[in-house]
Amino acid sequence: MRRKLFAGNWKLNGNLVANGTLLRGIKSGADAMQVELAVCVPAPYLAQCSEILAHSGIALGAQDVSSHTVGAYTGEVSARMLQDFGCRYVIVGHSERREYHCETNDDVANKAQRALAAGITPIICVGETLGEREKEQTTGIIHAQMNAILSLLDPHETADIVVAYEPIWAIGTGKTATPDMAQEVHAIIRHMLEVKSAEAGRGVRILYGGSMRPENAEALLRMPDIDGGLIGGAALRATDFLSIAAAAPSPDARQTEK
Ligand code: PGA
Repeated sequence: MRRKLFAGNWKLNGNLVANGTLLRGIKSGADAMQVELAVCVPAPYLAQCSEILAHSGIALGAQDVSSHTVGAYTGEVSARMLQDFGCRYVIVGHSERREYHCETNDDVANKAQRALAAGITPIICVGETLGEREKEQTTGIIHAQMNAILSLLDPHETADIVVAYEPIWAIGTGKTATPDMAQEVHAIIRHMLEVKSAEAGRGVRILYGGSMRPENAEALLRMPDIDGGLIGGAALRATDFLSIAAAAPSPDARQTEK
């Protein structure tokens, strides 16, 4: 059974005071949760957040990692550095990095491999633009993005990743994919994972991301291949983040419905 994961992607938000308030709010409601919670924070705040989250059960994550291990790469942060601060997760290939920092599918795959080598789970983002969806290219885009990962990682490594399907047109726009639209793509991703390794197909969590909110989370989370959320805007308010996580049906409930 895949344990649901809700990862907050703070993006370029936060400061020392606001981070403390937000994390204390999340911590106060996290104990009652059966799901896993994570926060992916800006790199300068890893030390602060690691300290606040110690012994809380809430996982710490970063938003990017270098595809290099060490050397003359000004501004980069390596997987080993993230490991030093106790990161359990790192987002790789977010569409904002693909678009604004020209990251290719191969760059994303290399970053995922670096994270895995340091014992950090990459949350690998894939998704299509509105134009690509309208031209019915979604499946081809997802295949290309996933194949770059699957061809680089061995089956054993593949079982250790998390995938986030984030339709780009839904990110920060208030538009959400309908549960059926999201499930269709999640099923394609699940099938690709299964072909690579039965273990990966069964165990890899596939998150939905793109304007996930307390109001729409439950319907999305009822879909069989949606295993949680990668949450941007709504993760900056503890109550909203916790309400989304609380909307996850219990594993028993979902099985009964099937
Ligand atoms: P959003 O962002 O929830 O604000 O749409 C999601 C993401 O970019 O990961």
